[in-house]
Amino acid sequence: MAMSTSIQNSGAAESAADSAIQPSPEAVAPELRVEPGGAAHGLARPRAHLWVDNVSVSFDGFKALTDLTLTLDKGELRCIIGPNGAGKTTLMDVITGKTRPDQGGVYLLNEDREQLSLTERAEHEVAQLGIGRKFQRPTVFAGHTVFENIELSLASRRGVFHSLLALLSPVQRDKMDEILSIVGLSRRRDERAGLLSHGEKQWLEIGMLLALDPSILLVDEPIAGMTHQETERTAELLQSLAGQRTVVVVEHDMDFIRSIAKTVTVLHQGRVLAEGSMDKVQNDPRVIEVYLGE
Ligand SMILES: Nc1ncnc2c1ncn2[C@@H]1O[C@H](COP(=O)(O)OP(=O)(O)OP(=O)(O)O)[C@@H](O)[C@H]1O
Ligand SMILES: [Mg+2]
Repeated sequence: MAMSTSIQNSGAAESAADSAIQPSPEAVAPELRVEPGGAAHGLARPRAHLWVDNVSVSFDGFKALTDLTLTLDKGELRCIIGPNGAGKTTLMDVITGKTRPDQGGVYLLNEDREQLSLTERAEHEVAQLGIGRKFQRPTVFAGHTVFENIELSLASRRGVFHSLLALLSPVQRDKMDEILSIVGLSRRRDERAGLLSHGEKQWLEIGMLLALDPSILLVDEPIAGMTHQETERTAELLQSLAGQRTVVVVEHDMDFIRSIAKTVTVLHQGRVLAEGSMDKVQNDPRVIEVYLGE
């Protein structure tokens, strides 16, 4: 279906728009080149920490994502909004290897500035490459303490579930203390996770993800069911996590989005409808029409 009036962030359109700052093919380091057939335009974007390139996903003929291109810079906080069914969760499924796209690719620039294709990797492999995902419902171990939950997460990464405590080095213990402090649960470290409030469980789960040292953190509807105070605290937390990590937040609550937004991507019917500052997208007539209302 032709959508010529859309300003969707298609690969071709972006290549043209970026041409002024895009290095020539010769100037791009070899490790930044995408393997043949891996990408529509043959060359990767050196700056992008994550590059979702021209991805389409369909379920039984229904197109959940269509030619979707999205780039994330290292350390940025990106908000993704859009009506129900726009494809936000499906996008996270594609990035994390849960859903394989019919077309297109997803590329991660790792610490060594190697560009890794994610689409043919299994979910656990994508997680191991440093992409952490928080689902809407917290999944903490209710019978274990807050500290143990983070410890279990750290241990699971190293495959040493069976011999937890003895193997934690002082450095790792310091790291766990730091994580507890970041997520605001230091004082509750010895409480059973089942006794935490809904908001605290969400923070604990973020703490468990941090134990895995993700370079990209994806959070889908983090504040659903939270109190006002918990929501504010979550806004601070996500903002503090960006910078060192790339953070992607999907959320419907516009007050919340407004409080944290730097760059906002609006999805609609599986495509990027608009992208830019909160001011820009909330004044975009098409965004108002399909999502923000009168
Ligand atoms: N596994 C699946 N099988 C069939 N259809 C699916 C599947 N997953 C998603 N869809 C469909 O794809 C479309 C996009 O769904 P998705 O969950 O990504 O939307 P969303 O933007 O996250 O919406 P919401 O804001 O309601 O969470 C919807 O029409 C949904 O019904
Ligand atoms: Mg969703």
